[in-house]
Amino acid sequence: MRVLKNLFDRNKQWAEKVKKSDPDFFVNLSKQQNPAYLWIGCSDSRVPANEIVDMMPGEIFVHRNIANLVIHTDLNCLSVLQYAVEVLQVKHIIVCGHYGCGGIRAAMQNKEYGLIDNWLRNIKDLYRQHQAKIDALEDQKEKINLLCELNVIEQVANICHTTIVQRAWKGGQELDVHGWIYSIEDGILKDLNVCITNIDEISQIHRIK
Ligand code: CO
Repeated sequence: MRVLKNLFDRNKQWAEKVKKSDPDFFVNLSKQQNPAYLWIGCSDSRVPANEIVDMMPGEIFVHRNIANLVIHTDLNCLSVLQYAVEVLQVKHIIVCGHYGCGGIRAAMQNKEYGLIDNWLRNIKDLYRQHQAKIDALEDQKEKINLLCELNVIEQVANICHTTIVQRAWKGGQELDVHGWIYSIEDGILKDLNVCITNIDEISQIHRIK
């Protein structure tokens, strides 16, 4: 099937619906984007950024990958971060994980998955760091969900350790980094209360003077 007609039909209907409620919506939006938020989330099809927070196009800048990781050598993620912070001047960066994440689950196994094992290694390293706490739990689902939460907290730290975010803070830019987790089972977001807003809140060794 070379043309996915169904999707084009749905697109047309959607554009019509938006225009009906605001005839100038697309015209106005085409002139600029001014999102206040950068969302870093999981690629999981059940965790769509805009829908979860009920936001329209233009309101949220999005980067998604498997298990919402922020890796210091990932040019893709770093480029998104730099553009969002320096050009778009977003006020908030949100790392949003989700319970039952397949990437986290896979990382907790000893199975070989191929190329993606290199990506999941980052989560295995994190598991090793928190192994005692995680292994103390009985239930496998609870173990996965705890690592899902710990992973969000780690990625919030990773964002704050970048020169991009630290330079913004140094320049007096208001920039808050949040850690959230989403439940696929009921559609509800939870704030993990790990928000970082300035350089004094990150570990000493990562502070760039
Ligand atoms: Co996931």
